[in-house]
Amino acid sequence: MSVADLPKIELHLHHEGAAPPAFIRQLAHEKKMDLSGIFRADGGYDFRDFTHFLSVYEAASEVLTGPEEFRRLTLAILEESAANGVVYTESFVSPDFCGGGDLAAWRDYLAAIQDASEEAEKRFGITLRGVVTCVRHFGAETAKKAAQCAADTAGDWVVGFGMGGNEGMGEQGDFAWSFDCAREAGLRLTTHAGEFGGPESVRDAVRVLGVERIGHGVRAFEDADLVHELVDRGTVLEVCPGSNVVLGLFPDFASHPIARLRDAGVKVTVSTDDPPFFHTTMRREYEMLNKAFGWDADDFAALNATALAAAFCDDATRERVQKRLES
Ligand code: ADE
Ligand code: ZN
Repeated sequence: MSVADLPKIELHLHHEGAAPPAFIRQLAHEKKMDLSGIFRADGGYDFRDFTHFLSVYEAASEVLTGPEEFRRLTLAILEESAANGVVYTESFVSPDFCGGGDLAAWRDYLAAIQDASEEAEKRFGITLRGVVTCVRHFGAETAKKAAQCAADTAGDWVVGFGMGGNEGMGEQGDFAWSFDCAREAGLRLTTHAGEFGGPESVRDAVRVLGVERIGHGVRAFEDADLVHELVDRGTVLEVCPGSNVVLGLFPDFASHPIARLRDAGVKVTVSTDDPPFFHTTMRREYEMLNKAFGWDADDFAALNATALAAAFCDDATRERVQKRLES
């Protein structure tokens, strides 16, 4: 059996960023919206660099105009993830793309996403939980609305709060109010750091925001003291190697620091981030890690154990997923 056939846990997946280009093109066609500028001739998403990627992502999201679109999107994403062997995933859902931060609208979008999540669990055998995210380049005031939406809907399905977006804008600490609000509502915390920001962004994430997981975090490897701090704290990195290679952080998988971080004792997990944008899937991530570092079934079992222990779901869900990993 190839390692790519193993069951998988994914902790870092952006809901809109997982939308297949054909799905977005079909919605644009139905709504008579012209999105031709965001696609390449071969049908994939077209972007030059990270900031252009973020604007193409936001342009594609414009066709997701209501709860029904998110219901369809959720089913499409989960069918694809399940086909790649994923048995549990957490996705980033954002009130900014689901009702513009309005709580009543957010509840409607969330109900549709949860409904699709339950249907997908029955049809495809995959469990989804939501991590509500604010978008860093939309600013700290907008983030507060996302945090309040997260706090008001925290529960069995909305299990975490996080932040994505352009790390070049502002400081992690500018968003402390939002992270405190989510924490007080019982939500678990993660934030993007150490992707385009350097080691200091990772240090701020754990010390100032108090997150237990970090989206990417890979540039921590530039600072040995910080690597020790992450090991001591037990911070979990949601590493997305294929995303990092396409966005130019590292030239290829072999140069990626995931193996060095793991071997230094940091808790690493593997995810796809925005799979169709980065021409990847969880199968491909496993295949590439096997090729680059020789990781075998035992390595991937350890990776899944780290990911399942770090998942933000409740323990009953964790046990159910554990059984799926074993079968
Ligand atoms: N939003 C979607 N993908 C992202 C990434 N890789 N980094 C930051 N924000 C994002
Ligand atoms: Zn991300």
